[in-house]
Amino acid sequence: MVDSLKKPSFEELRPGIKVPAKETILTPRFYTTDFEEMAQMDLSLNEDELQALLEEFRIDYNRHHFVRDAEFEQSWDHIDGETRKMFVEFLERSCTAEFSGFLLYKELSRKLKDRHPLLAEGFGLMARDEARHAGFLNKALSDFNLSLDLGFLTKSRKYTFFKPKFIFYATYLSEKIGYWRYITIFHHLDQHPEDRLYPIFKFFDNWCQDENRHGDFFDAVMRAQPQFLNDWRAKLWCRFFLLSVFATMYLNDIQRSGFYESLGLNTREFEYEVIEKTNETAGRVFPVILNVQHPDFYKRLEICVENNQKLSNIAAQQGSKIVKTLRKVPYYVSNGWQLLRLYTIAPIDMVSSHGKVR
Ligand SMILES: [Fe+2]
Ligand SMILES: [Fe+2]
Repeated sequence: MVDSLKKPSFEELRPGIKVPAKETILTPRFYTTDFEEMAQMDLSLNEDELQALLEEFRIDYNRHHFVRDAEFEQSWDHIDGETRKMFVEFLERSCTAEFSGFLLYKELSRKLKDRHPLLAEGFGLMARDEARHAGFLNKALSDFNLSLDLGFLTKSRKYTFFKPKFIFYATYLSEKIGYWRYITIFHHLDQHPEDRLYPIFKFFDNWCQDENRHGDFFDAVMRAQPQFLNDWRAKLWCRFFLLSVFATMYLNDIQRSGFYESLGLNTREFEYEVIEKTNETAGRVFPVILNVQHPDFYKRLEICVENNQKLSNIAAQQGSKIVKTLRKVPYYVSNGWQLLRLYTIAPIDMVSSHGKVR
């Protein structure tokens, strides 16, 4: 009993292979796209920048970065109870997100190989990086006596179809938010080494530079396709993607505040920082960004946090499925309403600042 409290048990597919976390609206997504449309994309408008970024990818700065050092070679049983559970969840989520990037980029590079060499090479080199990231995280999971069966994940997950334009908005933002998340954790632990409970975090500095370069590649692709960025639809979609990425991260992380607090971070401060920075960065390429300083912005997200708490309380209670579903409806409606109101907060126009400071 005491042991099970100290070492939370996870459902296993086979001994040591964790059952993947249930897919919800908040779990990392797997994507597929229209390869034909991608193959026909003319990127000549920004070819020089894209070639320069490819050259950076080829240099492969992190070729020797992801090597586990002696510090990993010890028992991690002292990370126990809730903290252990949250560590495992963090590693699993991160591994799944990195792996979903790998799958998408790999598939794109395979399908475009003979038809669009520039994109094919870019995706191939980014897939290389994501495979390293996912592998490193999966190895970290094994320090907690678990791992993910990535082959099983490939076959069992649902894939969301996005047209290329939306793939670029989504991957651009997930790379940039990934960069800001990793670098913010790294800087915090660099200043508070006593909170660095596990060595993986010291790898986050060079690691996040990979994500930053990936984001820059998508930035350059979007600039080569100005119709992705310069009409009223682009403005509406950019707002939509910014809001979905920020709200998903906020709701996920606040639910798991314990993880960030175990590293000595204040979760909400961490969220404000990452959202602020990602929003600012996105403003270099997106025609609009969100007004995250608006007094309603975090107020409404907090209402969603409360709603989600109530939803999980209901889910955990006894009772018939129908009754539980009926009790959940008002909270789903409220979440939808909050997100709609968040979407309608006037955005900040960035077009006038483009081309001035980059
Ligand atoms: Fe990555
Ligand atoms: Fe990446």
